[in-house]
Amino acid sequence: MRTKLIAGNWKMNLSKAESVTLASEVLHKVPKSAKAQVLLIPAFIHIDAVAQVISKSQLLLGAQDVYFEKSGAFTGEVSTEMLLELGVSHVLVGHSERRHVIHETDAVLNRKLIAATSEKLVGIYCVGETLQERNSGKAAEVILHQLKTGLANLSHDVIAMGHLVIAYEPVWAIGTGQTATPDHAQETHAFIRARLAELLSPELADRIRIQYGGSVKKANAAELLAKPDIDGLLVGGASLIVDEFVGIIQAAEKS
Ligand code: 13P
Repeated sequence: MRTKLIAGNWKMNLSKAESVTLASEVLHKVPKSAKAQVLLIPAFIHIDAVAQVISKSQLLLGAQDVYFEKSGAFTGEVSTEMLLELGVSHVLVGHSERRHVIHETDAVLNRKLIAATSEKLVGIYCVGETLQERNSGKAAEVILHQLKTGLANLSHDVIAMGHLVIAYEPVWAIGTGQTATPDHAQETHAFIRARLAELLSPELADRIRIQYGGSVKKANAAELLAKPDIDGLLVGGASLIVDEFVGIIQAAEKS
């Protein structure tokens, strides 16, 4: 059984006060007995404030990025150790906005994923094709390339410890209101799991959670989560609205 992971990626949104308010509202509305894991991913600068609100609760804290070096002259970057000190347990690596807006390379993402997972963080490695890649029939090829390059030289031991989550986020579905259909998402998740079995092992592939992301809202969460290979959701816009995000968590509780 793979525990469902519902994550709210707040991206570059919310003030400090708004982040604290949203975290405390989610905290008060999510039952302590929830079986799904709930992860909040604020902007770096608000992580500490959110940590104060959700410490000693069942809510988990994530970061949107991390640098691969331990310390030193890397202006503007944040290390795994700094995140761990604040109580961060999960970190996104290779989000499509970092690939396509910030232009992070496969090699950089691989180093980040290795650094994060080997330093006791859970790395949520994001993959997904653009609309152009999809329309030209290249989605499978692109996703396979992202998996191969991202997971290269990753320790099987840390994966076996649960330190790797994959998030399938088709770029054409992010922030567009155009969600992948549950069938399409399931088909791609099954494809990803089959490739993980080849690249790693069938046992590891069976244990790795694969989240779906891209215009998830409370209205479509249940049907996505009903699919056998969808092990959670990575939510952007709807995670900024308490009622939407809590509705998504409730859908996970019922799934
Ligand atoms: P939206 O839910 O706003 O489409 O964003 C998805 C996403 O990028 C989460 O990481």
